[in-house]
Amino acid sequence: MRKNIVAGNWKMNKTFSEAEELIDQIVVGMEELSLKCEVIACPPALYLEMASDYAEESRIKIGAQNVSEHEKGAYTGEISAPMLASVDIEYCIVGHSERRKYFHETHEQLAKKVDILLDYDIKPIFCCGEVLEEREKEIHFDVVKKQLEESLFHLNKDEFSNLVIAYEPVWAIGTGKTATPEQAQEMHAYIRSLIAGKYGDDTAEETTILYGGSCNPGNAKALFANKDVDGGLIGGASLKADDFLKIAQSFE
Ligand code: 13P
Repeated sequence: MRKNIVAGNWKMNKTFSEAEELIDQIVVGMEELSLKCEVIACPPALYLEMASDYAEESRIKIGAQNVSEHEKGAYTGEISAPMLASVDIEYCIVGHSERRKYFHETHEQLAKKVDILLDYDIKPIFCCGEVLEEREKEIHFDVVKKQLEESLFHLNKDEFSNLVIAYEPVWAIGTGKTATPEQAQEMHAYIRSLIAGKYGDDTAEETTILYGGSCNPGNAKALFANKDVDGGLIGGASLKADDFLKIAQSFE
């Protein structure tokens, strides 16, 4: 049976002490709850080792927000997959729309990032999703198809089985404008059908597909109730432990 996941993408927020406080609140909060999902926190890179220490003593899992496509060398400011593995990081977000937009990450680069993460046994959380203009032009299915084909479909079935997919319509990120449960379900079902076409029904059924974009404690239940929505990748609402844990409790 596929896994439900609620993952928090903290983006570029929190000082060290604030980050430690937040992770501590999440971990303590989780102790009291019997959750029907895996919980992942993705803090800024500087705090990964600290967060990873918490993960050793609790059920929380830790993810990075980005990785270099290179293994090592003269790439000032970058962080490599072996570095993440050396502090026991289990997941890494790849291809977030903010990285595609502000850092001009290409399909090819993202394919390399996915490959190097898998080489180091780190599970990619691969983000896909269309911008508003693409939805208005009704090419959102084609856009997402291309993102998956160009960056993921070179993988073999075994490799692909380590992936988590996150559908994040860019027009819903940080805007307060959530996709409707119907819009999310429609795209998630489409993504699952693409995976089935490439890797077979079994792999498609086992793949966790998260929704991201203004997901909050008020709308999570309706989103996660859809049969192809297996949880969320949460931005703003992951910065408050209470809100984040409420979202993690939104599975029937
Ligand atoms: P918001 O939840 O703040 O809209 O961000 C979503 C997101 O980008 C998660 O990766």
